[in-house]
Amino acid sequence: MKKITDVNINNKIVILRCDYNVPIKDDKILDDTRIRKSVKTINYILERASKLVILSHLGRITTEEDKKEKSLRPVCDFLSKILDKKIAFCTYDEDVHTVIKNNRIVMLENTRFFDLDNKKESNCDDSLSKYFSSFGDIFINDAFGVSHREAASNVGITKYLESANGFLIEEEVNNLNRLLEKPERPYVVVMGGKKVSDKIQVINNLIKKVDKLLIGGAMAFTFLKAKGLNMGSCFVEEEYVDYAKKIIEDYGEKVILLKDCYTQNKELVDINKLKSDSQGLDIGDKTIELFKKELKDSKTIFFNGPMGLFEEGYEYGTEELSKFLNTLDSYIVIGGGDTVNAVRKYVPNNNFIFSTGGGASLEYLEGKRLPGIIEG
Ligand code: 3PG
Repeated sequence: MKKITDVNINNKIVILRCDYNVPIKDDKILDDTRIRKSVKTINYILERASKLVILSHLGRITTEEDKKEKSLRPVCDFLSKILDKKIAFCTYDEDVHTVIKNNRIVMLENTRFFDLDNKKESNCDDSLSKYFSSFGDIFINDAFGVSHREAASNVGITKYLESANGFLIEEEVNNLNRLLEKPERPYVVVMGGKKVSDKIQVINNLIKKVDKLLIGGAMAFTFLKAKGLNMGSCFVEEEYVDYAKKIIEDYGEKVILLKDCYTQNKELVDINKLKSDSQGLDIGDKTIELFKKELKDSKTIFFNGPMGLFEEGYEYGTEELSKFLNTLDSYIVIGGGDTVNAVRKYVPNNNFIFSTGGGASLEYLEGKRLPGIIEG
């Protein structure tokens, strides 16, 4: 992997690609993690380079209307405040080169505004990549969250400029590599969420490496059905029951499933005694105890996917596990947007590792090469 410290940025105009795809309401940034995490690379650049030009996408742009909601201007104001530095915000109606000439730090408008023209940004259009590259002398990519996408502003541009990864990408890759290469053992993965189908590639890649895979959330019901249990009215992905059967056949002793669950009436039911109308919506107390027993001595943990339908009040399992994880002295990575938000809510003060990439971190853990990560 090519790092920012491997290239010479002294007195150059540096183009920095960040992932500032952050939730914004009424011009207020609701989660500033991605912005704050980009500051280390920005400061490193500002200490050496002559100018800094920042590119990012925000949301998805399919109509003219979307452009009103998805301007990066609030991000520019926020970044300017936390850096305590002036940042010129530049739209594509302006003469971008002149704005860059007249300012030390420039943030350009949402790169996906070009998606209204034949999806040029998202389809990695060559002429757009070349246009972005004309804004500077060297390119640094620190947009980990979008590194699984091949767009003009994070991948196409590297064809035209010397390029390297920033500190955030380096940190994310190092964190995730600890889950893939020589993890400290015991290594336990806790997986939840609704669908097995969303997690197949991650399961396939991680099951070989872990000591135990604890499965909660509705996806557990597909595995329990594969074991021949009656699942009542629980959510089951019938077309993935055979897949679950194969995982259990090949790695049975590693896979830990539910013993009980809370159903729609918040009734605690043994997993062998589900009635035809029982719908499991959270893991039960025996399951929580079993999961805690498996987790207690582990040295490496990856937690991805909620244990229950927490957005509808079935929070108990996810909350209990999050609080328990916070008592452990292990290397703990939390992945996936929903899980990160839930865990942060239940244990605001923690030593967990959170990735800034939902889709990107999962694809990395699937063992895929991410096109946005610049190789050395
Ligand atoms: C994210 O938030 O996951 C990234 O910014 C990628 O966004 P996308 O799914 O719209 O490409």
